[in-house]
Amino acid sequence: MNAAFADWMKAVQAGTEEALARFLPPAAQAPTKLHEAMRYTTLGGGKRVRPLLAHASGELSGAGSDALARAACAVEMIHAYSLVHDDMPCMDDDDLRRGKPTVHVAYDEATALLVGDALQAQAFGVLAGSTDVPPARLVSMLRLLAEAAGSAGMCGGQAIDLDSVGIALSLEQLERMHQLKTGAMLRVSVLLGALAGSDLAPPQVEALDAYSRAIGLAFQVVDDVLDATEDSATLGKTAGKDAAANKPTYVSILGLEPSKALAERLRLQAHEALAPFGEQALRLRELADLIVQRKA
Ligand code: IPE
Ligand code: IPE
Ligand code: MG
Ligand code: MG
Ligand code: MG
Repeated sequence: MNAAFADWMKAVQAGTEEALARFLPPAAQAPTKLHEAMRYTTLGGGKRVRPLLAHASGELSGAGSDALARAACAVEMIHAYSLVHDDMPCMDDDDLRRGKPTVHVAYDEATALLVGDALQAQAFGVLAGSTDVPPARLVSMLRLLAEAAGSAGMCGGQAIDLDSVGIALSLEQLERMHQLKTGAMLRVSVLLGALAGSDLAPPQVEALDAYSRAIGLAFQVVDDVLDATEDSATLGKTAGKDAAANKPTYVSILGLEPSKALAERLRLQAHEALAPFGEQALRLRELADLIVQRKA
């Protein structure tokens, strides 16, 4: 990773941390257990890939800092909520997340449920507070976030995931599941970052969409690979869960090496999609590399 990209990432991650801390209710405010748990799970961890994507695409459209911070925090809050619920006993039943005990372990199940509910509502509230974005555009952004988070996006993918335990999905079905459960939130991160600035021409929007589809799928292919190849200490979450839970993944259906090769093809596809932007899309290209080459 080159130094300029590393510095840019650190700055966006620190800015996101600060903005999340500001947009979340204070821990001392009642109901304190809920607010504490919302902050416990959202702050101080995670790679912040979705905020990084929002900031990188916001650079293409000249997005302002408040609109971008709100878009970035909204997608990260939805993502954080999805992790809390994903880890609950009724879903993946995991006790480790971002190097810490999961919310239902550190607190209790009811709190984990409510943390997810409250973070989701908070996300829409934060985005709706974007006073620098023209109202009609903001409504489109809110709608896109709703679609990406809901049954046509992340929740739909999670439902398919839970229904697919022990089932050998076809590659098409597997790709669809991954595009929904993970791709949809990554795609909307890119789109919201772009929409937070000035209008892009339709071919540019198409280019961003093609990029998002490639990295959205690549992200979960790599997540499946890492689950099979890394240890829990490296990942900060339980490794080897997919095979233990008999989940259909790219590794179980395609095999390890073909999955890595697919991720690499998707990385190149993502680069190709960005061609219309030239040098301007440097950060998005670097993020595609990070998503595919990461070790955690
Ligand atoms: C993990 O997401 C869950 C998936 C959607 C695959 P991340 O790998 O982005 O998790 P954090 O945010 O860095 O903890
Ligand atoms: C989760 O996928 C996707 C979400 C929407 C949270 P996984 O179940 O594979 O995520 P990890 O491996 O637990 O982070
Ligand atoms: Mg899961
Ligand atoms: Mg999981
Ligand atoms: Mg996983």
